[in-house]
Amino acid sequence: MQAIGIENPGPASRLVLQDAPKPQAAPGEILIQVAAAGLNRADLMQAKGGYPPPPGASTILGMEVSGTVAALGQGVTEWKPGDRVCALVPGGGYAQYATAAQSSCLPVPDSLELVDAAAFPETLFTVWTNIWDSGRLKAKESVLVHGGSSGIGVTAIQLLAARGHTVFTTAGNDAKCQACVALGAKRAINYKTEDFVAVIQAETGGRGVDVILDMVGGDYVQRNMAAAAMWGRIVNIAYMQGMTAEINFAPMIMKRLTLMATTLRGRSVAEKAAIRDALDREAWPLVAAGRIKPVVEARLPLGQAQKAHEIMASSAHIGKILLTLD
Ligand SMILES: NC(=O)c1ccc[n+]([C@@H]2O[C@H](COP(=O)([O-])OP(=O)(O)OC[C@H]3O[C@@H](n4cnc5c(N)ncnc54)[C@H](OP(=O)(O)O)[C@@H]3O)[C@@H](O)[C@H]2O)c1
Repeated sequence: MQAIGIENPGPASRLVLQDAPKPQAAPGEILIQVAAAGLNRADLMQAKGGYPPPPGASTILGMEVSGTVAALGQGVTEWKPGDRVCALVPGGGYAQYATAAQSSCLPVPDSLELVDAAAFPETLFTVWTNIWDSGRLKAKESVLVHGGSSGIGVTAIQLLAARGHTVFTTAGNDAKCQACVALGAKRAINYKTEDFVAVIQAETGGRGVDVILDMVGGDYVQRNMAAAAMWGRIVNIAYMQGMTAEINFAPMIMKRLTLMATTLRGRSVAEKAAIRDALDREAWPLVAAGRIKPVVEARLPLGQAQKAHEIMASSAHIGKILLTLD
């Protein structure tokens, strides 16, 4: 089969189309003929040698795919050949074929283009487990989503708004902010021209927000504490602005805050299955009904993976970038 390989691994790596062995479905797994693979920020790090896949996972890039079931491993009961699925995979997505645990897959409804379904697995799994599991979000609570125009952000805003939550978000220019409001954010804050802490305080009458989903880190760690409500929960999924910060912990104890951080990729099949089951129940019907839409900046053929990475690295995009196969 054809797959993307990493030429000259390291800071000056290049992504190239190569021949690779077709994977085989292990017990409990399905083989998927890939229609599209979603890009994720972590793929950029992996291509530069900075984010190795978990033990046992494919070394080929790609953490989410959509496609049709091509073969079943032993003991698979949930799917049959020909089914349209999208899947969270620990690696191997940038290829004609990829394997996935049967319990990491969701059915692609007729209302959703098969290619566009690749926009959802990584974002929905991440958003659900960080905002609802870790963040313990309750009905009517408010949320601040940093990086609102990211792949993660566009899904978080839509899912939160569809479930009746007030969503605030930050993004790096006015066009991105407008897109976030169109997706359901009550207020999008251009962090280059406005102070998000001041805006949140003004918008909430000084109360703050209940949950914050943050991928920025750095000085946001302190500022998130200022934007949080009493008993607020702050969940980090990345620290793009920096892994270190000098912190005054007084607001933590005064506001009884919780600070958390998690990753998804290395979790067990059983943990991912539990998230999948929650999504199937709580989020996927909203996707099938068109209330959560794929937000896709670009669809490029698999062979243009290098160009796709350059688009993502520019941070000019809104939503997801997909690699498509014929
Ligand atoms: N922990 C987990 O399990 C998990 C799972 C999935 C994703 N993630 C993380 O979540 C983040 C979003 O992922 P994604 O695939 O949705 O990314 P993405 O689409 O590439 O979006 C990232 C956006 O973040 C904003 N940003 C803010 N500060 C930045 C900085 N210092 N450097 C670069 N960009 C910055 C940029 O938009 P602006 O114009 O607004 O600055 C950029 O477009 C990534 O950091 C990713 O690694 C974590």
